[in-house]
Amino acid sequence: MKYTNEINKRRTFAIISHPDAGKTTLTEKLLLFGGAIQTAGAVKSNKIKKHATSDFMEIERQRGISVATSVMSFEYKGVLINLLDTPGHKDFAEDTYRTLTAVDSVILVIDSVNGVEAQTRRLMEVCRMRNTPVIVFINKMDRDGKNRFDLLEEIEKELHLPLHPMAWPINSGKDFKGVYNLFDKSLVLFTANTKAADEDTVKIDDLESPVLDEKLGEKDAAALREDVELVDGVHGQLNVEEYLAGKVAPVFFGSAINNFGVREMLDTFIRIAPRPQSRETSTRHLDVEEDNFSGFIFKIHANLDPKHRDRIAFLRVCSGKFERNKYFHHVRLDREVRFSNPYSFLARDKDVIESAYPGDVIGLFDTGNFKIGDTLTEGEDFYFTGIPSFSPEIFKEVVNKDPMKTKQLEKGLLQLTDEGVAQLFTQFGGNKKIIGCVGELQFEVIQYRLLHEYSASVQFNALPFYKACWITSADPKKLEEFIRFKHANIAEDKDGHLVYLAQSEWFLNTERTNNPAIEFHFTSEIHK
Ligand code: G4P
Repeated sequence: MKYTNEINKRRTFAIISHPDAGKTTLTEKLLLFGGAIQTAGAVKSNKIKKHATSDFMEIERQRGISVATSVMSFEYKGVLINLLDTPGHKDFAEDTYRTLTAVDSVILVIDSVNGVEAQTRRLMEVCRMRNTPVIVFINKMDRDGKNRFDLLEEIEKELHLPLHPMAWPINSGKDFKGVYNLFDKSLVLFTANTKAADEDTVKIDDLESPVLDEKLGEKDAAALREDVELVDGVHGQLNVEEYLAGKVAPVFFGSAINNFGVREMLDTFIRIAPRPQSRETSTRHLDVEEDNFSGFIFKIHANLDPKHRDRIAFLRVCSGKFERNKYFHHVRLDREVRFSNPYSFLARDKDVIESAYPGDVIGLFDTGNFKIGDTLTEGEDFYFTGIPSFSPEIFKEVVNKDPMKTKQLEKGLLQLTDEGVAQLFTQFGGNKKIIGCVGELQFEVIQYRLLHEYSASVQFNALPFYKACWITSADPKKLEEFIRFKHANIAEDKDGHLVYLAQSEWFLNTERTNNPAIEFHFTSEIHK
């Protein structure tokens, strides 16, 4: 229990959203509050611009910049906040899913005009798998959005997430007047382009107070009274335990670009968001308060610039104290390793650090020793569970264009897939190599890197699959039979686990109905 104070002080979370909902803008405002940046616009370079989708080198360049801002640490009211960035670009969705395994809670940004969008849905699925506590920030209230009640209903229904409004908006678009904070009963009036510290707040203990009419006008004051009565009647007080269990999500309304509603959310966040949590491992429950160090790699960033061919492995500390130059146990390699230049990600600078505590994320220079999910400890052998691979959505066969370089190709494919760039499958009983990705862009990245780093030249042939499901069965005979009948659709993943490649949802559903003895899993976690 040596590190309780350090643990209590920390909050590690990610902001997630569908692209364009306002994640970058909100991040920037949070950093402004934390004093980590001084000027607006500083975080913009982190964003992969939409128009760059066809040029992956440009995206890589931007991704390179984004390494420095992958984790942003700042202090707010005595709390040390680690904000993990998630790429908005859908082709990097795997990266985002994995980052979610390294955080203790998330803030979900939803555009009040567009409501729930595709990426929002998928990200929430991952949060739900882990019961991650979620705070919702409904952004762009300065634009004419959907009716608030309809929007909340839509979010609840689409994301299977009961909501609890913490503040209530007064109109939207050009009539947006602000929010009424239901928790501390104050009216926060909206002014465009609010600076970090000068919101116009009026304390209103009694909603019947004439001050409300004075500030909002009679019509809006009456509407607010009615809304609040309704909302209070339905929701009552927020049950923080339910939030921590991922069963209900507090909701805030605001406008990130105008820095409105952000402070209310941040104040609530530091009050209720979970401190670094205990975790499950392959052998036992690991208490975050344990003295011995442990942590895992959740992301590996390789630099495509041939002049700087370095890789950075991102490690989340789960217990104990990480120390520079101290030997730790690399469980998979069964080897002792130490790091002379671990660094933290304070705002935009990479600083070499001496130590790190649970909740912290550090960058370790890597020469190929790490793969996603690797664990470091002080000697004990275990790995952390809950770091699954998700089913890819695009599948292509790898065609070797230069048989003289077969060895290099194999090595390259193994290393790149260890980094988590893509998943590698081998046709069952054959040797056809299949790459599975979430986005087209990864194929370009792989082709480029195989050529430049391993001198292997490949071409990809599209395959008509839509999903990979890991298959298991309590009945080995039935499994064997299924494999025999579905031979052309069976492959093995890198760890030798069986995978069924479905051509379409219809095929998948048909096989599931016809083969009740076979279990189809959408993540690889089942094997852990
Ligand atoms: P993302 O990281 O989730 O992709 O979104 P980002 O913050 O980049 O915001 C997407 C667009 O929405 C940006 O405009 C941003 O200025 C705008 N935006 C963010 N918050 C608000 C808000 O509260 N109200 C309104 N009206 N707009 C908001 P853009 O034109 O795409 O980019 P830029 O030219 O402003 O950089």
